Amino acid sequence: MFDHSFQHVSLSLIITIELVWQDFYIVFLGAHHTLNSDIILETHLNVLSSVKGSYLEAKESMVYSYTNSFNAFAAKLSENEANKLSDMDEVLLVLRNQYRKLHTTRSWDFLGLPLTAERRLKFESDIIVGLLDTGITPESQSFKDDGLGPPPAKWKGSCDHYANFSGCNNKIIGAKYFKADGNSDPLDILSPIDVLGHGTHTASTAAGTQVPKASLFGLANGTARGAVPSARLAIYKVCWTLSGCAEMDILAAFDAAIHDGVDIISISIGGGDPSYVVDAIAIGAFFAVSKGIITVASAGNEGPDMATVTNTAPWIVTVAASGIDRAFRSTVMLGSGKNVSCKISMLIALCKLVYVYNSSWVQTPTMEIMQGIGVDCFNPEQKQYPLINGADAARNSEAKEYARYCFEDSLDPNKVKGKIVYCKLGAYGTESIVKGIGGIGAIIERERYLDVAQVFMAPATIVNDSLGDTITSYIHSTRSPSAVIYKTHEIKKPAPFAASFSSRGPNPGSQHILKPDIAAPGIDILASYTLRRSITGLEGDTQFSKFTLLSGTSMACPHVAGVAAYVKSFHPDWTPAAIRSAIITTAKPMSRKINIEAEFAYGSGQLNPTRAVNPGLIYDMDQFGYIQFLCHEGYSGSTLSVLLGSPVNCSSYLFPGGVIGYDAINYPTMQLMLKSNKDTTIGVFKRTVTNVGLGPATYNASIKSPKGVEITVKPTSLMFSHTMQKKNFILVVKAKSMASRKILSGSLLWRSSVYYVRSPIVIYSP
Ligand SMILES: *[C@@H]1O[C@H](CO)[C@@H](O)[C@H](O)[C@H]1NC(C)=O
Ligand SMILES: *[C@@H]1O[C@H](CO)[C@@H](O)[C@H](O)[C@H]1NC(C)=O
Ligand SMILES: *[C@@H]1O[C@H](CO)[C@@H](O)[C@H](O)[C@H]1NC(C)=O
Ligand SMILES: *[C@@H]1O[C@H](CO)[C@@H](O)[C@H](O)[C@H]1NC(C)=O
Ligand SMILES: *[C@@H]1O[C@H](CO)[C@@H](O)[C@H](O)[C@H]1NC(C)=O
Repeated sequence: MFDHSFQHVSLSLIITIELVWQDFYIVFLGAHHTLNSDIILETHLNVLSSVKGSYLEAKESMVYSYTNSFNAFAAKLSENEANKLSDMDEVLLVLRNQYRKLHTTRSWDFLGLPLTAERRLKFESDIIVGLLDTGITPESQSFKDDGLGPPPAKWKGSCDHYANFSGCNNKIIGAKYFKADGNSDPLDILSPIDVLGHGTHTASTAAGTQVPKASLFGLANGTARGAVPSARLAIYKVCWTLSGCAEMDILAAFDAAIHDGVDIISISIGGGDPSYVVDAIAIGAFFAVSKGIITVASAGNEGPDMATVTNTAPWIVTVAASGIDRAFRSTVMLGSGKNVSCKISMLIALCKLVYVYNSSWVQTPTMEIMQGIGVDCFNPEQKQYPLINGADAARNSEAKEYARYCFEDSLDPNKVKGKIVYCKLGAYGTESIVKGIGGIGAIIERERYLDVAQVFMAPATIVNDSLGDTITSYIHSTRSPSAVIYKTHEIKKPAPFAASFSSRGPNPGSQHILKPDIAAPGIDILASYTLRRSITGLEGDTQFSKFTLLSGTSMACPHVAGVAAYVKSFHPDWTPAAIRSAIITTAKPMSRKINIEAEFAYGSGQLNPTRAVNPGLIYDMDQFGYIQFLCHEGYSGSTLSVLLGSPVNCSSYLFPGGVIGYDAINYPTMQLMLKSNKDTTIGVFKRTVTNVGLGPATYNASIKSPKGVEITVKPTSLMFSHTMQKKNFILVVKAKSMASRKILSGSLLWRSSVYYVRSPIVIYSP
């Protein structure tokens, strides 16, 4: 009776809450008619008042008035109010606020940007890289400002003293935080301080100063540095420990960064809607590109599944993750070591012979040595530890299925105490669970993502399923199984290759644009970290380090942002499109043989910093080129108004007669999607290249066509009489129909006596 009435009460309570449920929305209005932010705020409040009923309520519900680089506000609204607003003439778009996730050094030497690379220090120190991330660790050695003068004159940003934040210097010239939802985050600090380590890591990768002898407890030892050690950093904290990264905060950070005068924006945050006029990062990046600021973003960590790539707007540089030539292994030794004299000093064949003749020895197999994957910084204290399979250590019979994965509360502490536990991968932090109940560590079996070294808080390593089978059969073959895991060592490995986790194309946002654009190192990257968090963030971890290894397209993104800054330091007046073109056409081609998804995994290939500075030719464009592209994609003029601030007349962008070609954009890569109902698909790509080399030059075309595809270019030779001269060409791709989900790779190479300018051409069948 009581129970029932109680339920009844709580049910009606829920209904009441639903009725008044409010969410944050971002409301975009037409272009500013004034620069006076007080007047703009007043306009915003008037618009909002019309649905809220009163000025006071409007004031209480508004959390942002974006007044600098675009005209919008964010407010807490009911769905009904949001609908009413979107019906208003002056409102261009209403977006419900979403929360995004983070896309969780030797890498520069590997990329061929040595410490001694040619630099233009005077210009480099005028470059400002803005990061939208988890904040910064100002105490880190990577952000010392030795030798740097005051911020460049163009800088209009600010930096205050905040909780636990010691303030800026001449390296970190700006720091702000954005959190408008008002929800408390007890694990974070309302300040630009980074408590997760992610923003510190990305910032130091892009523009950290040189720190010699940086390592994670001796691993990956070397000089840590960013691409542009003399450039400045502007920090915009938009991601929080518990809530993630709110779109309304991300837009506020874009607004601030554009106003403050950053040159490059690096954003290692997950993308949202594939529609370019609904995705907050795409919209923010468009406002940036309109002001000459390039946005570099991570492609996502949803690979190797196809069509998972995010942040795919053509005005964003989309970065995939690749592996470098270094990997981390831990030696695992199984066996009690009783028969060491046999196993180590005698030939294996002889040992086997002994087995056959001595049946009691069959119980003690050879000492098996295998290589696990991961970062384990612990030296074993014993020669061997007892080994148990998690499945055999269940706390009761019901827990057995969970114990196989060593899930929390599934293991019997008495069975695990003092032992190494073998588990199938369940959740992140297996070793912490085992250690928390008295175990020594864990050997974890995992099937995917074996190219990434996870960092452990206790002795642990990852093995593949075939090694896993060896371990389980060993455990069953002996009465007292044992094992030891040695501290991790580094090995050399062939590279580059696309990271298994890196999100793949084809681009869900447009069949005409190849994404990702470029690959950069994103596996086991050493960079600065925070001492406010252990290196794993797991319970019981006592390891703290100023530098750590992290993996993700999040780590790849600041490599490209840093190189964009490097290119900009040589060419301060280049447009974002020119810088992107330079980065794409100079990339080092990667191998289709290793990466079956080819360009959908690595874009144009591996980032090549020193060549990017001198690309020879560039594929340039301004923001109206993107509008033409969007009109051609089928976006209506009214939906595009959010980008330009006023309605777009698409017919004035789309000239009749198909003069704009297959994709209507001057992009440095070409992608043709085959039509399923046609024998042959033809794509006519129209491009314009600008000679950015010194003086006159002649370029000849060289084409690689995959089988079943005919690619021609007209003219086949481009003659430039002077620098900055533009030339047009037309590339025609004719492809026969083929099996679905097939990807073919071709390329166009413009070659002069000095330069070669490469564009990948991708043909695929959906
Ligand atoms: C932040 O500063 C406050 C005092 O200003 C201090 O009590 C607190 O421990 C600091 N938190 C961290 C994580 O450093
Ligand atoms: C890192 O390497 C340097 C020499 O390059 C050496 O002096 C230093 O001891 C090494 N550090 C660690 C922790 O191994
Ligand atoms: C499992 O790992 C071992 C050691 O790294 C390797 O030799 C073997 O080829 C791997 N097996 C599979 C199926 O990947
Ligand atoms: C849009 O542009 C086309 C072509 O330039 C022009 O004919 C038409 O009048 C324009 N429409 C509007 C509404 O301005
Ligand atoms: C381009 O082609 C012409 C004609 O075949 C040739 O004379 C010239 O040397 C070529 N130039 C380059 C840079 O390959």
